[in-house]
Amino acid sequence: MSLERLKIAKEVEKEHVQLNKQMSELKTIIFGEVEEEGFAEWRLHFLWKLRDFKNALLKHFDLEEEGGFMREVLKAAPQEANKVESLMLEHEEMIASIDTVLEGLKALDAVDRVKLNHIKNDINQLVLELGAHENKENHLMQVAYYRDFGYPA
Ligand SMILES: [Fe+2]
Ligand SMILES: [Fe+2]
Repeated sequence: MSLERLKIAKEVEKEHVQLNKQMSELKTIIFGEVEEEGFAEWRLHFLWKLRDFKNALLKHFDLEEEGGFMREVLKAAPQEANKVESLMLEHEEMIASIDTVLEGLKALDAVDRVKLNHIKNDINQLVLELGAHENKENHLMQVAYYRDFGYPA
């Protein structure tokens, strides 16, 4: 176990915590009161928060895909190749879901409860998907990184 490998794992874990925080902020905004008065400001605020989140997520995926995490997992546990492949596919799917929400939000000119409910559902779905995705990654990290320290694989 090199220090570099441990550093990557710690960084990925740290980012998972930060992303979860950002996700719950997004939920607080979308599930809070949305009034006709001040709607344009509310929408812009949420739009920017969502864009920041998308960017943070893209950088996180870069770290996992290009920063060595996926490579180390494959090296330590080649039998997990399918899981790594599906994680990368999920990255694309989650970004596509965020883009859908961004577009829906931009097309929303006034407080439309039906469309807002769609956005709420999409955000909820995203929270669940990201949570499940990270759980799989945490498990793979245990398999690939911590085995050397005697943690259960
Ligand atoms: Fe990931
Ligand atoms: Fe991740």
